[in-house]
Amino acid sequence: MIGVLASGSGSNLQALIDADLGAPISVVVANVPGAKALERAEKAGIPAVLVDHKAFPDRASFDRALVDVLVAHRVEWVVLAGFMRIVTKVVLDAFPDRVVNIHPALLPSFPGVDAQKRAFDAGVKITGCTVHLVDEGTDTGPILAQAAVPVLATDDALALKQRILRQEHRLFPAVVRALVAGGLTITTSADGRRRARLDGVGDRAEATLVCPALLPGSREG
Ligand code: GRF
Repeated sequence: MIGVLASGSGSNLQALIDADLGAPISVVVANVPGAKALERAEKAGIPAVLVDHKAFPDRASFDRALVDVLVAHRVEWVVLAGFMRIVTKVVLDAFPDRVVNIHPALLPSFPGVDAQKRAFDAGVKITGCTVHLVDEGTDTGPILAQAAVPVLATDDALALKQRILRQEHRLFPAVVRALVAGGLTITTSADGRRRARLDGVGDRAEATLVCPALLPGSREG
């Protein structure tokens, strides 16, 4: 079972709903009243729960409430789809190496908020999106998969953001499906760094996910 946490429009949630993930989404949780993600879940017949972070005195008690909802819905994989809160040890300890996030840049470049605009402003020629396991840092957990997106001469920050989002919608369901299928291996190197290998996306990633906008005949980009 998959639990999705979202704060906003939920376009990534929609891509997950529309895909075959190999396991059902048993609950969608939002922390913002009126988040469109809740509406999308309800429309798809998925339990939609509001846990308003403003109702809690601190991060830990908010996270305990999240864990309660996720456990009640038998969640095994926690998917952050535009969830604009830092999750604490409370969530990470309840779901060790089972919390996954999508970030709209090629990590470790441009972690944190407003990544697309910061990449655009920096003048990078290639950016993209990253799906990674969540650890206690900000966008620092082991990388699972990435999709590259070229910055075009005609781009402004908004156009770039939208083109990255289209790749997010392809990459995220593919990664979640591979995780559910058991494709994850984590190794720790001698210097203590943890790395993830994910079988099941690499074969398609080579041709279609890594830089789809540059492929001949691609309608993306
Ligand atoms: C996406 O750009 C995602 O990478 C970031 O938050 C945004 C969520 O968009 N973490 P949406 O709510 O899925 O449309």
